[in-house]
Amino acid sequence: MEMLDKTSLKLPKENPEAEDFLPLLGTDHVELYVGNAKQAAYYYMSAWGFQPLAYAGLETGLKDRVSYVLQQEKIRLVLTSSLVPGGEINRHVESHGDGVKAIALWVDDATQSYNETTSRGAVSYFEPKELKDENGSIILSGIHTYGETVHVFVERGQYNGIFMPGYIKWDPYFKPKDVGLKYIDHMVGNVGWNEMNKWCEFYEKVMGFAQLVSFDDKDISTDYTALMSKVMSNGNGRIKFPINEPADGKKKSQIEEYIQFYNGAGVQHMAMATDNIIHTVTALRDRGIEFLTVPSSYYEDVLDRVGEIDEDLEPLKELGILIDRDDEGYLLQIFTKPVLDRPTLFIEIIQRKGAKSFGKGNFKALFEAIEREQASRGTL
Ligand code: FE2
Repeated sequence: MEMLDKTSLKLPKENPEAEDFLPLLGTDHVELYVGNAKQAAYYYMSAWGFQPLAYAGLETGLKDRVSYVLQQEKIRLVLTSSLVPGGEINRHVESHGDGVKAIALWVDDATQSYNETTSRGAVSYFEPKELKDENGSIILSGIHTYGETVHVFVERGQYNGIFMPGYIKWDPYFKPKDVGLKYIDHMVGNVGWNEMNKWCEFYEKVMGFAQLVSFDDKDISTDYTALMSKVMSNGNGRIKFPINEPADGKKKSQIEEYIQFYNGAGVQHMAMATDNIIHTVTALRDRGIEFLTVPSSYYEDVLDRVGEIDEDLEPLKELGILIDRDDEGYLLQIFTKPVLDRPTLFIEIIQRKGAKSFGKGNFKALFEAIEREQASRGTL
């Protein structure tokens, strides 16, 4: 298994305001609780190009649940379902539908991470525990964040196995070609009315994060957007958590629609980075992924706004890829429609060419596209 390169602690500090008491090496994995992990795994493999990595279930001694672990470059997804009635996983799925349960963070010391965060007010999800097998040991601990979402700290310095103790290698014949996804760029949370600042403070006080100076920190509530957003990041900039809350607008906020269908706060989108967005989005579209589209008029003046770019405009227009620029460069991005039944979780594909921001210049076109989708669902 390719390990994440462990150089982040030596990188220049990307966010000078952030504190250092919780060094994070990167996103270890994202775990979704789903109604049918086997079929969800097939979707993320066949449509998204994830590769089979590890499995835990009846065959490994579990009695009540099953997990499939998928990987594409540095992105690891864990899909977990219950095998029995009742229990926490079923209750979560019943309440929220399929959704992100855990954003697991890779650390050098999961015990210290737990102590530093709980002593600053984090609510414990579980205390540090060691898992062992013949390949070594892993230490896990966990804290709660917004809604029923949790952060699990993963210390894997003493482990050489495929994923974690308890998992076996999963090596089916079916291994669709990857689509060029590289790493998790950011994970966005939707929280309830007037809760954005509370959760930004949580990331600041409990995890030592700071608001990214480069981002849109002002109220971006307009006719079109009707939401507010702040981006929190850790010191080395590898972990970026934008937090959205609904705002009053002429129409129902897309965040309110999410909160209604997710039945509370939760992860709104995962942004996955590629270094060739035209290739990645072409492959995804060919495999059935549906993206939000903007009117072709978007492309008539986009280059006046963002200046010169390396790519030809025509394929970007054909695929519906959006472009934005900040002081440091530009970025290309596109958003899927919700990837499950409820209008909740979606995925962003992003290619950064210097830009460190989040596509503020695209908000208007993007939110109009979302509103068209909301209207078709009768939830606008
Ligand atoms: Fe995003």
